[in-house]
Amino acid sequence: MADTGKTAKLEIEGETYDLPIFAPTAGPNVIDIRKLYSTAGVFTYDPGFTSTASCDSTITFIDGEKGELLHRGYPIDQLAEKSHFLEVCYLLLYGDLPSAAQLEDFEERVTKHTMLHEQMHFLFRGFRRDAHPMAIMVGVVGALSAFYHDSTDINDPWQREVASIRMIAKMPTIASMAYKYTIGQPFVYPRNDIDYASNFLRMCFAVPAEDYEVNPILSRAMDRIFTLHADHEQNASTSTVRLASSSGANPFACIAAGIACLWGPAHGGANQACLEMLQEIGTVDQIPEYIARAKDKNDPFRLMGFGHRVYKNFDPRAKVLKQSADEVLELLGIEDNPTLQVAKELEKQALADEYFVEKKLFPNVDFYSGIILEAMGFPTSMFTPIFAVSRTIGWISQWKEMIADPQLKIGRPRQLYLGETKRDYVDVENR
Ligand code: CMC
Repeated sequence: MADTGKTAKLEIEGETYDLPIFAPTAGPNVIDIRKLYSTAGVFTYDPGFTSTASCDSTITFIDGEKGELLHRGYPIDQLAEKSHFLEVCYLLLYGDLPSAAQLEDFEERVTKHTMLHEQMHFLFRGFRRDAHPMAIMVGVVGALSAFYHDSTDINDPWQREVASIRMIAKMPTIASMAYKYTIGQPFVYPRNDIDYASNFLRMCFAVPAEDYEVNPILSRAMDRIFTLHADHEQNASTSTVRLASSSGANPFACIAAGIACLWGPAHGGANQACLEMLQEIGTVDQIPEYIARAKDKNDPFRLMGFGHRVYKNFDPRAKVLKQSADEVLELLGIEDNPTLQVAKELEKQALADEYFVEKKLFPNVDFYSGIILEAMGFPTSMFTPIFAVSRTIGWISQWKEMIADPQLKIGRPRQLYLGETKRDYVDVENR
């Protein structure tokens, strides 16, 4: 963080306060208000963090106006095309692309941790079969801290490393077990001789009676979905992980908190909500009615998979996924998929509509991902768990960056209090 030597001047009741201005390597300058309360006795007010940088970070950069997403400087479209998920994991976690030897070592370390403690299988049995897989994931990932005590000390860099590798490795196993449990099929153990995405597909779709032959194109599409969701700087679930970990909580508990936040329909839950919306629209002729509803202030309906806090242009991930959707459906011989047709026409009509143009609402990552996942055979309830599997590396990288920062402070926002001022207690008979 470079101090520009410049200051912003804030005047309150005739008193002037100089606030330092910092320059990032990319993005807008930042005004440092850390001493504002101690010098001026006021708080700033920004619910929803629309103008607030909550931390400094070197991991991911988004230019929302251009529709650009960079991980450690590398554009997401290049990573989606040329790299693969585990290499992107390495990049996010350690800061640079690995050499061939480093990649091999990393993949081997991840692969060695894919199995889940056998006792954890019984934990799954405590859930109802009709539980949402995200509900199971929140519980099971939180419970990892009850099974892997030797990697919960956040002050030990080695334990932090082991916890990170364990979570990258075990998350696909946990998500697939949550799925198998809800459909009443036996768990499928991981196989370490196949790649990360293929292993996940196999754990979801193989049964003891019949193995699952992984189609390389589907496995590539799965890997691409993982890659595109890997990190997205200080979004709601990542900020949740950071806030939870600022208290010194163990990493498994913090990632469980991130999963809980991701589940909401304004965040990761939008992929499930989006596909359900596209199916409800059903046919192209219904689109104008839904666009009208999305624009109606008296109707809570929103176009799911549209709009973003940061992107005021195309979400670059949506562009890649739109192309992947075509490829996967063609491969599966699902020509004229009605949901894809509705999605493409909805995108076209919304982008030509004054309301969406003026508010700069574009398709986001969740708009096309559900179509691909459904074509692969996943039920809608698995879409957000798959997002959680992918985003785990982002959460862990941001957590690791934060814990290693010697300036780490517990996150403790202040408030604009609008409640009652001090008053005396009244006995119940006198109320
Ligand atoms: N459909 C219709 N109107 C919308 C939509 C939408 N999808 N998104 C935003 N708007 C309107 C909104 O009503 C508001 O209008 P006005 O200024 O007249 O009050 C304006 O656009 C700005 O919206 P906002 O809610 O103030 O913006 P935000 O930055 O707080 O919300 C968002 C961002 C992503 C929550 C929102 O766009 C949304 O709810 N989208 C649908 C859900 C979705 O697709 N979420 C996935 C986000 S990307 C992946 C992820 O983060 O996990």
